[in-house]
Order: sequence, then C-alpha cells, then structure tokens
Amino acid sequence: MSYPYQIKSLEDYHKTYAESIAHPEKFWFDIAEHFQWKKAPSSLDDSLNWNFKEPKVEWFKGAKLNITENCLDRHLEKDANTPAIIWEPNDPEEHYRILSYKELHFKVMQFANVLKNNGIKKGDRVCIYMGMVPELAIAVLACARIGAIHSVIFGGFSAQSIADRLVDAHAEFIITQDGAHRGNKEIPLKNVIDDALMQCPFVKRVIVLTHNRMPVSMIKGRDTWWETEIKKVETQGNPICPAEEMDAEDPLFILYTSGSTGKPKGVVHTCGGYMIYTNYTFVNIFQYQKGEVHFCTADIGWITGHSYILYGPLSAGATSLMFEGIPTWPDAGRFWQIVDKFNVNILYTAPTALRSLIAFGDAPLEGKKLDSLRVLGTVGEPINEEAWNWYYEKIGKKKCPIVDTWWQTETGGCLISNIAGITPHKAAYATLPLPGVQVLLVDENGKAVKGSDSTIGLPEETVQGNLCLKFPWPGIIRTTYNDHERCRQAYFSTYENLYFTGDGCSRDTEGNYRITGRVDDVLNVSGHRIGTAEVENAINMYVDVVESAVVGYPHDIKGQGIYAYVILNNEVNDEALTKQDILQTVTRIIGAIAKPDKIQFVKGLPKTRSGKIMRRILRKIAEGETSNLGDTTTLLDPAVVEEILAGKM
Ligand code: PRX
Repeated sequence: MSYPYQIKSLEDYHKTYAESIAHPEKFWFDIAEHFQWKKAPSSLDDSLNWNFKEPKVEWFKGAKLNITENCLDRHLEKDANTPAIIWEPNDPEEHYRILSYKELHFKVMQFANVLKNNGIKKGDRVCIYMGMVPELAIAVLACARIGAIHSVIFGGFSAQSIADRLVDAHAEFIITQDGAHRGNKEIPLKNVIDDALMQCPFVKRVIVLTHNRMPVSMIKGRDTWWETEIKKVETQGNPICPAEEMDAEDPLFILYTSGSTGKPKGVVHTCGGYMIYTNYTFVNIFQYQKGEVHFCTADIGWITGHSYILYGPLSAGATSLMFEGIPTWPDAGRFWQIVDKFNVNILYTAPTALRSLIAFGDAPLEGKKLDSLRVLGTVGEPINEEAWNWYYEKIGKKKCPIVDTWWQTETGGCLISNIAGITPHKAAYATLPLPGVQVLLVDENGKAVKGSDSTIGLPEETVQGNLCLKFPWPGIIRTTYNDHERCRQAYFSTYENLYFTGDGCSRDTEGNYRITGRVDDVLNVSGHRIGTAEVENAINMYVDVVESAVVGYPHDIKGQGIYAYVILNNEVNDEALTKQDILQTVTRIIGAIAKPDKIQFVKGLPKTRSGKIMRRILRKIAEGETSNLGDTTTLLDPAVVEEILAGKM
C-alpha cells in the first residue's frame, strides 16, 4: 500500500515540483490534511508567515496537534499489531525485541505518566543521554506526548559537553541508563552524567534505565530507577496519558550541533512543520510501502535518527529497525546479517560506514542473500564514487536505487535527493531538490550564479557556488535555543534574504546538484559535524599549549580527518606522551569523536599582519601539498611555512 501524496513517476515529480514552488503554501496546506490535528490549519492565507531577515518562519501557527498522536494513536485502528520498532541488540546472540504500535503506544503513555509524576511539564527541557535501546525511543516520544522539549545528546559526548548543553538549555531533568553496549565495549553513561552534574546543581531528577547493569552511583532525592518509576505508575493504575495539545509552532526538540564558533548551537524544531516534513520526505524519497522494514543505521543522538528512525517512519506507520551495535562487531558482516534476519527493504547509512566495510573485502558478504533490499540510502557526507559503486553492485546487486540525501540538522529533513526508482540516481550527486525546496547557488559576494536557481531553467554548463535556500520549507530551523540572534547570524546574515547552508555545491546541465563539502570552518568527520574552533578550544586547554589551529584533510575512511597544528609553551621531554595528553584533554572536553588524527608541533602559525591565521595554507599542507601554497607574501613571517613543511608528518 502506498500513500496518496507519494510521487509516482518522473513526470509526476516535475509536475509536483513546479506546483510546490508556484504555490508553496497551498502545496503544504494540502499535505497537512493527511495528518491528525486537534485543530486543523484553518486557512490557507495564514498557513505561512515568514521573513529571513529576523528570521521568522511560522507554518500553520494556531493549528493544534500532538506529534505522538500522529506517530502512535492514529495507527491503532489498522496497525495495532504492526511492528513499529524492531530492536536488534549489540550482541547477536541476545534476543531481539519487537514493539508493535499498540505496545509502543502503551509504553509511551506509561513513561509519559512517569515524567508527569516527576514534575515534568509542557515546555520543560529534558536531556536524554542513552544508548540505542527501545527505551530511548520511548523516552523521546513520552516527552513529546506531554509537550516537554527533548534534547538528546549523542552517547559519545563527554561530561563537559553535556554540562554545556544542560546549562544552555537549562534542563532540569535527565533520562539516562547505567551503561550501553557498543561492540566489545561498555559505555558508562550514568558515570558520565554524574561528572556533568558536578557543574549542574540545578538538575532536579535523573531517571536511570538499567540495561547493562554496570555499577553506578545513585543519589537519594535526585536519581531514581526507570523500573521503580514504572512500578509506581502501574500501582496508580491509570494506563492512559492524554496527548498534550501543542501549537504547530511550539518547540518539539532541541538538538545541539557544531558551527564555526567554539560553542555548539541548540537547533530548535517545532511540532507541526517538522512532522509534516519528515513524514513527506520519508514516504517519498524511499518510496516506502506499508509493511516494509526500514533500517536507518544512524544514532538517535543525531538528526538522522530523530527524523528517519523515529518521527518520519513512525508518523507514516512504518516499521523502523533500531540497532544498538556497530557495523564491525562481532564482524564486518553485521549489517548484512541484520538485513537478512529481518528482511530489511530499505537500508539508510553513512558513506563512512560503507568505506569502513569495504576495507574488509568481500568475505563478510559471503552467504548473505540481501535479496529483500529494495532501496539503499546514504547521508551525512559526500559519497565517493568507489563507495557508491560498491554499495550499488555488492549490496544492491545493481537492482536497488541509491538515494543520496543531502540535508542538515537545521533543515529537519532531506532537501536535495533523488527519489527511489522515480528520479534517476547519479554517483556522488544528491541530484534534484525535493518539492518545496528552492535552491540557489551564490558567489562570495552573494550574487546569484547564473543557471543555479532550481526554480528557473538549467545552466548551459556546470556551475558552482555556495548553497542557499530561497524559501522556507516546513522543517526549517526556527531558532537557536535562547539566542535568536545567533540563529540569524549563523544562517541568515551571510547573504540577504537567503538561508545559507555552509556547503559548497555545483549544478550540472541536467539540474543535478552535487555537494562539494563545507566552505566554513566546520569539519565532517565520519559524518559527524565538528567545529574547528571547538577542537582548538579544547586543545588550548592543555597546560603546555600556547595556541593551535585545526583543519580538515582527506581521510580514506572518515571522509575528513582532523589535523592539529599546535604551539607548545616550552620544550617537552616526551612529544609522543604530550600528544597523548592532548588527545585525552580533547576527549574530556568534547568527546572521543573530536580527537585529532594528527598533531604536529610547530613553532609558529602562518598569520597575516593583522594576526589572522591563514588556514588556507594549513589546509593545503595537511592535504600533502608542498609547493602550490598560494600567495604567502602577506604573511607576517613567511619562514613559518617552511618550518611547518619541514616538520610535516
Ligand atoms: O556538509 C553537509 C553534510 O553534512 C552537513 C550537515 O551535517 P549534520 O547537521 O550533522 O547532518 C548530517 C545528517 C543530515 C551538511 O552541511 N552532508 C549531509 N548530507 C550530505 C552531506 N554532504 C554531501 N552529501 C550528502 N548527502
């Protein structure tokens, strides 16, 4: 069974796209009819209020809903016993779990009552720091049920990063677990939370799920077990938790992400627009058919997990597979084993995961059928042609379209992507904009690049520029939590009346867009977004560091690696040990995901006379360039460059 708003052919795509840009309000107003509202959007004229100057974007303000009624309740009539979540544990020997829509609905209401019992109300911020267990999905949806704003923090972030986020969101409530299994490691989540809470005395309650049952500290009055709280609710005997009425523009969640400055930003998404957009893109890009199994391998700590493990699939009544482990444990055939075990139809993963698996050769594929697969997807970073071809040939057996979905934490859902089996795929290209998405490439001065506007014709030759959006779609970022000016500055101030993505992009003569990577100081390491300034701040906290500069360089597996040039304040006896110390410091301050791959100690950094570090030169050196470093005459001390080249690793 399909969905009435699913695009059916290439011709249908072109027609739908044309309509969506000619009358965007009408286009989304009509899509909105397919959802369950407590008060439906009443008038087309009021469906969108926007300007990119402040910025202000309001879709369907005044309409009322609860996203969990759309993700759960409305499926109960026809799909009560349909699996909503299939959970595959880290250890393949352990039993998997399936939660039907009925069971998930019950558990979400039950935990929503736990949240209420603990004093959590609409608008409160709840931080969730968990592994990939079904209770993470339950916790997220329970927050949405009562209108609390969830802020999920990826399990790889350090105590310091958590504390920074807790302070920024002023989150007084935390949901966590004792520890998580990850490959052959145990991750001590509650311990990390305890360290974070040393800096956050305002936190009132920590609810702790038992999972791997590693020892944890539990502080009377503040910490409580998930299971104890569930028992209390059972004793109270009321299994119902009505869904809180939310305005379409009330915040649904905050998700922190890195930018060009040292401090991550709390991206805010709202209930109505985000729901419509994740649902529409999920159903269309993957051409989801009722009954299929969708396996998105992302972690719910990132936007991909929010949008395409939880809200997109669940709002569509789909079956979403959630995996606790990693692709390479107990061996590099784990994904393929899961695909066969559950007859997965759609596999959505990151180029980094594919590259790490290619490195193991074909042996892990032996004996794997993979014949249930219908659609493959990639997300998070540019995919190189080698990885694309391997995915297409070895995994999809040349039968499955690959959707290359370009988007960002700030966009809520995919903006540029082919549509499986409907619009053509092209290796390394995200291809065409989705309906409602108006793309424009601009040069450094903000001037529109001729032939780059997706709403007007095609270019005569391939053109290149900075990727911007001209018009709001329902899933666009609304603000950065508690600091609207930051949102304006980061996305809406570079070019007038445009949302600037931070990405470079080209467009070919057939209208296909190809993302070339970030043009700002944001790195994309294994599909994880990390700001160079953030890493520099962490390195600079090490006792013997005077200054540092961090750049990205091409990395075979991770896409980009982190290269750090570091000035020390005196000679150190053991350089190797000092490097280890610095790595520990970064792990403490941000988390292991931000550890530099290479550290080079230098005496000075290439600076202009006004003191600005010339990163262009450092980037070239990190990339292995030795001669073509561009103009170095404006440097305060050009000799620095020779010294860095001589000491290059
Ligand atoms: O540079 C683009 C890259 O990832 C950035 C967004 O990162 P994040 O907010 O963490 O979201 C990742 C998951 C949506 C973008 O600015 N990126 C994302 N998808 C692609 C991509 N680069 C190339 N191709 C993609 N398909």
